[in-house]
Amino acid sequence: MSLHPERAIDPATQAALEHVDDGMTVGLGTGRAAEAFVHGLGTRVAQGLTVTGVPTSERTATLARELHIPLVSLEEAGSLDITFDGADEFDPNLDVIKGYGGALVREKIVAASSLKLVILVGPEKRVDVLGGRGKLPVEVLPFGEALCRRRLRELGCEPTLRADDDGEAYVTDNRNHILDCKIAPIEQPAELEAAILAIPGVLGTGLFLGMADFVIVGDGDDAEVLART
Ligand code: A5P
Repeated sequence: MSLHPERAIDPATQAALEHVDDGMTVGLGTGRAAEAFVHGLGTRVAQGLTVTGVPTSERTATLARELHIPLVSLEEAGSLDITFDGADEFDPNLDVIKGYGGALVREKIVAASSLKLVILVGPEKRVDVLGGRGKLPVEVLPFGEALCRRRLRELGCEPTLRADDDGEAYVTDNRNHILDCKIAPIEQPAELEAAILAIPGVLGTGLFLGMADFVIVGDGDDAEVLART
């Protein structure tokens, strides 16, 4: 029996799959929306579509293998045709915050390696100004955590070390930690991104600015496709 009996493809995934052509190399995001997409892609692969995937996390890699989607490393893939991923916030410019699921650094590397980035979200992720949901994840090298915390506070971000289900420090696929920064709406995201990235020990932030080409907003029954202008 299959681990994943075929499930109905929701309208947002359906709209995303329209961007996929035979022979493409596809970045596979992390989180619920990305996993729904991977399920849909798996269905298409079972029907004969030929694609190669590059996963953004161990969790997504496991799911893709179970669905018989062929995978390659980023090194082997080189430039990707397109990446599909979720997000935690998106604003009217289609700038997004990601990383509540902990895969932000690999997600940004895979997205930056792709010609196109398609973000799949529910309507609850829409904000007027980034930071509206109050949290910005920042991945840090454990050795540099104390310095990162201090500098983030100086920038007006209040960091909390993310914990796993056992109350231990959450460890990313890259063996790092995440500081979840409490933030007010961000008036100047590019400046904040540059200031955070300048802190020694910071590996990446959840700010994805100017990266998404499309945001597909799905509510289960319908999907709205927003394109960067
Ligand atoms: C993973 O690190 C995240 O960036 C996810 O893409 C983001 O948290 C959205 O996840 P959901 O689709 O589960 O809300």
